Amino acid sequence: MTRREKELLSKLDKSRILEHVAIIMDGNGRWAKRRGLPRMAGHRRGIARLRKIVPAAKDYGIKILTLFAFSTENWNRPKREIRGLFKTLERYLKDEVGELMKNDTYLHPIGRLERLPSSLQRELSRVERITRNNKGIILNLALNYGGRSDIVDAVKKIIANRPKKIDEETFSKYLYTSGQPDPDLLIRTSGEMRISNFLLWQLAYTEIYVTPILWPDFKREDLLQAILDYQKRERRFGRIEE
Ligand code: IPE
Ligand code: IPE
Ligand code: MG
Repeated sequence: MTRREKELLSKLDKSRILEHVAIIMDGNGRWAKRRGLPRMAGHRRGIARLRKIVPAAKDYGIKILTLFAFSTENWNRPKREIRGLFKTLERYLKDEVGELMKNDTYLHPIGRLERLPSSLQRELSRVERITRNNKGIILNLALNYGGRSDIVDAVKKIIANRPKKIDEETFSKYLYTSGQPDPDLLIRTSGEMRISNFLLWQLAYTEIYVTPILWPDFKREDLLQAILDYQKRERRFGRIEE
């Protein structure tokens, strides 16, 4: 643990722990560009960050971590980059099962997974199966995920299931994040102030934290800093102070 982390940790209010944190892991390309490296180098380094950030999230008491890894719009990138990204993710899954087990992490992929390369799909379901009973932290890995397609897919499931009652609570059970509380905090790295079709429904009342740090440079302390910032805020949910 670094001195900065120790210092920040002493400020953490343990009675106000975040249950669900979502992160838009952005800036891999810019990280590489600044170093004169190919974009893939940024993606490799970005995916490697998961090794540090997932255990950190668990250490800080977070129960669910949702990471945006590939959006439905990211298909508009060059084929080579997409292929490289999927290969790197597949490698990560193969290498990290042991770590995920050790860290008591349940890897839960979300999104339209059927469009992903079949070898990646196989790896995702294998790791999900192995880690299913882990209770330390849920890692929702969003792949070929879009907030709009999440809602459209929920509507399709509702039509097929014909539930008697449709209200906000039942609707949210049909989303990919079924049964999970909405994120308390959304972090976006690399300074962009937009949601980019991430969890549209689930973010209705989420606190937003944008940092200029590029995802491959994002450290445990940076996550902690975001949590501390959150703990200073007052969530109102439309109410007023009396
Ligand atoms: C985020 O980094 C990773 C993915 C979207 C897959 P980017 O690849 O978007 O990096 P920038 O935004 O170009 O720097
Ligand atoms: C959002 O980042 C998607 C992921 C991080 C996976 P993008 O880089 O794709 O978003 P835009 O295009 O800048 O909005
Ligand atoms: Mg980007």
